[in-house]
This record gives sequence, structure tokens and C-alpha cells, in this order.
Amino acid sequence: MVSVAILGAAGGIGQPLSLLMKLNAGVTKLHLYDIVNVPGVAADISHVATNAEVQSFLGAGQLAAAVTKIDLAIIPAGVPRKPGMTRDDLFKINAGIVKTLVEAIAAHSPQAFIAVISNPVNSTVPIAAEVLKAKGVFDPRRLFGVTTLDVVRASRFARDLRPGVDAAALRVPVVGGHSGTTIVPLLSLASTRLGLSDEETEELTTRIQFGGDEVVKAKDGAGSATLSMAYAGARFADSLIRAINGDAVVEPAFIALAADPDGAKEVRGLGAGDLDYFAVPVELGPQGVQRIAQLGGAPTAFERKAIAVAAEALAANIKTGAAFVAGA
Ligand code: NAD
Ligand code: LMR
Repeated sequence: MVSVAILGAAGGIGQPLSLLMKLNAGVTKLHLYDIVNVPGVAADISHVATNAEVQSFLGAGQLAAAVTKIDLAIIPAGVPRKPGMTRDDLFKINAGIVKTLVEAIAAHSPQAFIAVISNPVNSTVPIAAEVLKAKGVFDPRRLFGVTTLDVVRASRFARDLRPGVDAAALRVPVVGGHSGTTIVPLLSLASTRLGLSDEETEELTTRIQFGGDEVVKAKDGAGSATLSMAYAGARFADSLIRAINGDAVVEPAFIALAADPDGAKEVRGLGAGDLDYFAVPVELGPQGVQRIAQLGGAPTAFERKAIAVAAEALAANIKTGAAFVAGA
């Protein structure tokens, strides 16, 4: 039974995510925080006939209360992309937002699990980690960049190519980060053999890497993925809540590799080099990251090459995030 705060709850992701968390039987308290419109969202969601108690917190003056006595903070606060933008273009605004929110969590619920959705995840997670380190409360097992949407897309897009596949059951490990070529699906290690040709592998890999752009283009200036992201965020949160309650659950996340030094050695061997953060499938437990899950085989030469490309871009993204806090 956990208390959950959603920071950015009135947004495109925040609203459906708040609704899905209200439906989660493991949630006892739901704190909805935003700088606009959140009283209406909270009043609306509070009428849903489940046992979770919903409370609204509006504006910076109520941030401390919003993150007091919470077990899990989910952060979808910040601006989304418009056509022509990269996720890195969001850094200027979202870096400061994430920093402020994590400072408040560190002060009022230092043990809370934190799931960061705000982009660019490759940089906002290092920002969150540096803030927690500066406050002396960093536990790498409890901080996650949410990359569930990448595996959700991988499963669904694989079905577009192989209609016999059950998209809901298929699991494709996706490693690296969460933007463009830093997203590396390991299609050869999918839970169901897909039997893809080299050409199909290349096409499907590119589609998964740039799946977010499909939505940004289709929304044509009205934002990026919100509904599929709310589904993915709720799935991640539900997995974490089940793990806190003792179930063995595997979900992907962009984590600090310090969370599992043994598992990290294997990840470094894949091509992550000396990176401090990487998206990996994670075995979740009561304390968060229990261990980095086994991939179940060796990536192909094509996948290893893609990991090397990802690692180079990730190094820069991680550095930018960490430097933001150091220089702030
Ligand atoms: P949105 O603009 O619809 O909603 C963002 C919400 O954040 C708004 O309600 C806004 O008022 C709120 N907000 C802004 N500043 C805040 C602050 N200081 N404190 C609290 N709340 C604040 O955007 P969205 O479509 O919901 O996207 C939110 C973020 O999620 C974007 O950065 C987007 O790129 C990212 N995203 C990540 C993934 C992923 O896979 N990790 C997927 C989709 C979107
Ligand atoms: C996504 O993958 O849909 C998100 O990161 C939003 C985006 O900017 O594409």
C-alpha cells in the first residue's frame, strides 16, 4: 500500500496517468501537484469509486506538502516537443523544473522512489541524481528514468510486422537511453523469436528509435505522446508497487549503474563503457532495483554497433545533466 505523488498532474500525461493510478488497488493516497488546473483534475478523479484518497496541491507554495510522506513520486512535469524539436531542445526549461521538484522530494520524503518521465530523460535522471547526492540522500536503487514506452512500442511495432505475435505478451529488451539512436532495441533477444531479416531488423529498430517522432508529427504542434505514455508510466508504477509488496517483476528503466555493480560489469561489456547511467531491464524488489536482469543471450553485431552509437550520445547527455546541477 503506497502513497503516490504525481508532479505535473494536470498535463497531457499527468491527467490520464493520475486516473490510472487512482484505479491501482495498491495506491492508498494520491497527491496531485501542478502549477495550473490541478484542483479540477483532482476533484474529477476523486469521484472514481476506488479507495485511494486524492488530494490537490497547486503551485510552488504547496509543493512541500505534495511530496511529504510519499513513497513514490512520478514526474511528468515540463514541456513536450513540437515538430522539428529534439528532446534535448527541452533541456533549457525542463532541467530547472526537475531540479526544483527533486530538491523538494529530497527534503520531505528522502526515501521515496522517483520515476522521471520529463524529457530529456538521458539528462533529467542525472540531474535528479546530482540533486539527491548534494542532499546526501542518493540511493541509486530508488531513482528511475521511465523508458517503458520504448519497450511498449517495440512490442506493438513487432506485431505490425509479425501479426501472429501477441503484443501484450511480447518482451523486447531495449537498452541505452531514451532519445533517437540512444534507444537500442535488442530484437534478437525478444521473448518470442521474431525471425526478422536484416532489412526488417533495421527498419523496425529505426521505427522504435523514432516512435516518439511519429506521435509528435501526427499531433502537429499539440505535443507528444500522452496516452501511450500514461499507460507506460502506470505500468512501470504498478510493477514497482507490486515489487515493493514482494512480487518479482522485471521492467526496463534508465538507471544509475551503481545500483547493481555486478550487473553493471556485464552492461559495460555490452558497450556501455564507463557510462554511469544506462537503460536496462531491471529486476525490481522492495528496495527498488534488485539487480539488472539477464538479457538471456548475446546481442548481434548490428545491435552491438547500435549500442556503441548510443553510448557516445549518452555520454554527452549525462554530462550535460550533471553539469547543470554542478553549475547551478
Ligand atoms: P504537458 O505540457 O501536457 O504537461 C506538462 C505539465 O507539467 C503541465 O500541466 C504543466 O503545468 C506542468 N508543469 C510545468 N512546470 C511545472 C512545475 N514547475 N511543477 C509542476 N508541474 C509543472 O506535457 P506532457 O505531454 O504531459 O509531457 C510532459 C513531459 O513528459 C515532457 O517533457 C515530455 O517530453 C515527456 N515525455 C516523456 C516520455 C517518456 O517516455 N519518458 C514520453 C512522453 C512525454
Ligand atoms: C516519446 O518517446 O514519445 C517521448 O519521449 C516524447 C517525445 O518527445 O517523443
